[in-house]
Amino acid sequence: MPSSNAVTSKKIYDARSTKYNETWHPEHAANYILWTQPKPGQHVLDLACGTGLVSIPAKRAVGSTGTVTAVDVSTGMMAIGKESAKEEGLDIEWLEWDMTDMISAKEQGKIRGDYDLITCATALVLLDDPLSALKQWKELLKPGGRIITDAPTEKTTPEGMIFEEIGEELGIEQPSRRLWVKDDKSLKQLFIDAGLEIERSWKAPGYVPGEEYQADEAGELFDKWTGQYFCKAFGEESVREKARSMFVEKFEAAKGAGGVVRGEDAFYMVIGMKV
Ligand SMILES: C[S@@+](CC[C@H](N)C(=O)[O-])C[C@H]1O[C@@H](n2cnc3c(N)ncnc32)[C@H](O)[C@@H]1O
Repeated sequence: MPSSNAVTSKKIYDARSTKYNETWHPEHAANYILWTQPKPGQHVLDLACGTGLVSIPAKRAVGSTGTVTAVDVSTGMMAIGKESAKEEGLDIEWLEWDMTDMISAKEQGKIRGDYDLITCATALVLLDDPLSALKQWKELLKPGGRIITDAPTEKTTPEGMIFEEIGEELGIEQPSRRLWVKDDKSLKQLFIDAGLEIERSWKAPGYVPGEEYQADEAGELFDKWTGQYFCKAFGEESVREKARSMFVEKFEAAKGAGGVVRGEDAFYMVIGMKV
């Protein structure tokens, strides 16, 4: 049975697929290749491959003697990736699968068990249990193989963190699960707990300027955001009033100098190795 995250993500990303490549994601994905430098002949597993923004340049890098397996739950996102790969004549193995259940994929012979590199760009924070996912993924690496992934910093999109906190208290599920990201050690610690050796960890700047909001606009911002898909559940009649007052209180508490709530735009990045 697919995880609840997989079901939600499939819906969200199928709907976003046709516009997805117009965002900042291509730039971040290109950096994944710069940071990891896949070599000809290597085997790469791109988890949450989306529209193939990492899979496609990875396949260019590993060439015809290497392989790229691209995994996602969203048929819509992968359809875009398949089309782009076909246009370039790149032979990528596409697999519609829940990335939290990769051991079954291995047992069913759908993927390899000796990857040189596993990539998971901007998707770890969609998972309910990122540690258990990382532990599974480690089992798919050959010794010396590496995993690269990211998490937005705790200060990135502060409103998202606040909606998640409120969601937890009110029992409203959010597509993003970022509350475990407390500081620059959180992602690194997950790798260590999964039994991976840290090859490199760093903070990478994002691709859009961090937002700034006046804390005293919190109520209006709540109204605006609950009109959008991600936060719609907080605008439902039964919870709206409570959620709004919780949001305003937390947003006020997050304000800094001049009554401004500042978001940054940055990622914690880690490359871990199986020893
Ligand atoms: C923000 S996109 C990232 C796509 C790609 N890695 C990139 O950098 O452009 C998140 C992707 O994760 C996928 N996803 C979310 N949960 C998943 C799961 N449990 N298994 C497989 N894919 C998942 C979504 O369908 C979506 O394509």
